[in-house]
Amino acid sequence: MQVKELAAKIQPELVELRRYFHQHPEPSWEEVNTANRIAEELAKLGISVERKAKTGVVGTLKGTRPGRTVALRADIDALSIKEETGLPFASQNEGYMHACGHDAHITCLLGAAKILSQLKDEIAGTVKFIFQPAEELAQGAKKLVEEGAMDGVEGIFGLHVWGDLPAGKISIDPGPRMASADRFVITIEGKGGHGSAPHQGVDAVVVASALVMNLQTIVSREVDPLDPLVLSVGKIVSGDRFNIIASQAELDGTCRCFNPEIRKKLPDMIRRIAENTAAAFRAKAKVEYYFMCPPTINDESLAQLAKEAVKKLYGEDSLVPMPLVTGSEDFSYYSEKAPAAYAFLGVRNPEKGASYPQHHSRYTIDEDALQVGAAVYAQFALDFLNSDR
Ligand code: NI
Repeated sequence: MQVKELAAKIQPELVELRRYFHQHPEPSWEEVNTANRIAEELAKLGISVERKAKTGVVGTLKGTRPGRTVALRADIDALSIKEETGLPFASQNEGYMHACGHDAHITCLLGAAKILSQLKDEIAGTVKFIFQPAEELAQGAKKLVEEGAMDGVEGIFGLHVWGDLPAGKISIDPGPRMASADRFVITIEGKGGHGSAPHQGVDAVVVASALVMNLQTIVSREVDPLDPLVLSVGKIVSGDRFNIIASQAELDGTCRCFNPEIRKKLPDMIRRIAENTAAAFRAKAKVEYYFMCPPTINDESLAQLAKEAVKKLYGEDSLVPMPLVTGSEDFSYYSEKAPAAYAFLGVRNPEKGASYPQHHSRYTIDEDALQVGAAVYAQFALDFLNSDR
């Protein structure tokens, strides 16, 4: 039996596993029960298990022949959302929900482990199964990399179930797929005074207001319109009372983009506009810029390999195009260590109630896609190890 048939055969087990994980969601860094169950399932398959990054689990499967090392990654954390699906296997952990589909990721990767452990004789090299905590905080991948999860890995593949794609369809394209996510904090120093005598003070509220508008010119006038960039000020804190001129303001915002070169320049661009806008109003501005999550960029040749794996399994028609996503993924930290490919697996099926976007309290998936995810993970690993890419 080959990968596709093995995946179809374990579909009922996959549904059961997914429902178990769905029923028991745990938030970032607290995936204790989740990790224990994953470790238990891997051990049953004779896969060696290591615990890393607090609640992370890394399984290692060696093939019967020597070769390279490939990694497959699934994230395992849930969100703090009250589930409203009304499903019989809805969350039993009040206030938490697998609303991003990470329950499906765990299941698909365990499925791949099951498939690959039956195909040991066809594996030339080593497969690492990385079950990553705290993706929703964009912290888990970094920690796993620091603790050596990527040591010796020559290629990595990950996937995300996606509520906008029809169930069972897959999108894998080379180049940028998901945006970077960074944060900036701007502090404006003005001078307080009586609201009736603004000329005696320097109004931080006016400076902040002008700055919100001026910052958008980075997007509209400074960066190539063919290079997408989002700059959002999400929070402004300023002022004490209706009749007092505010002496200070703080702006808290985020930048998202796909081009690492533009990303590098953002702190300087923001600083120039903030300092000069403040100066125009006799105030001062201080900018702190925090590089957080890099953009997720697919390696050209690995994306091609993944596409061919999908074609081999389910035919050309199963591959669909998908626009770039301005959300981000800490999968990008792995791609700094080895060539990487990231796929989106469709789980949308309105007939089964699976029509809500990720992070919605009614989000659910068409479980028929589980075997597809498991097969794609497994086929990618086999093909990577049997190729010289
Ligand atoms: Ni997610």
